[in-house]
Amino acid sequence: MKALIVYFSLEGNTQYAAEKIAEETGADLLRLYPEKQYPDSGFRKFFWGGKSAVMAEKPALQPYVFDSSAYDTIVFGFPVWAGNFAPPLRTFIRDNDLSGKNFAAFACQSGSGAEKAFGKLKAALGTDSLAAELILIDPKARPDAGNDARISGFCGKLLQL
Ligand SMILES: Cc1cc2nc3c(=O)[nH]c(=O)nc-3n(C[C@H](O)[C@H](O)[C@H](O)COP(=O)(O)O)c2cc1C
Repeated sequence: MKALIVYFSLEGNTQYAAEKIAEETGADLLRLYPEKQYPDSGFRKFFWGGKSAVMAEKPALQPYVFDSSAYDTIVFGFPVWAGNFAPPLRTFIRDNDLSGKNFAAFACQSGSGAEKAFGKLKAALGTDSLAAELILIDPKARPDAGNDARISGFCGKLLQL
């Protein structure tokens, strides 16, 4: 398996998980950055990010390099925003031919909505199922041995693909 973790992180929780998964599996990392940064504090953070997620926006991204032929598995990582996956991933999915890949995903959230977000991700990818799914509660902001164990379980599934 050669896997690429494609992720967006506003406040570092998804980044934390992405880096742990990369360490445990040897997967490469691709962090997406929108051209226009989302506000990362206060009311504006929830308002603009929430609106963007509800509207299923596809924000322009800063340039990145993605060699599709180098990977057979794409692992998507995102914070749950208003019960949806974070919009930069939508842009990536629209802009790249991902046919024939295995898909897996992990979601960071503070409460709930990840299951719904996985459903929306599957719809965007045109797939019925993900090879592995992982839900974490703010893994950087709220360190917890349970999260680390769940990350290892997820990595075990990825390594079997
Ligand atoms: C705009 C916005 C919307 C959010 N919506 C949800 C939500 O619907 N459910 C939830 O549990 N957490 C929600 N959160 C919290 C984040 O998903 C959570 O803190 C996540 O771990 C942040 O990941 P990050 O640090 O990689 O950005 C929201 C956060 C933001 C900024």
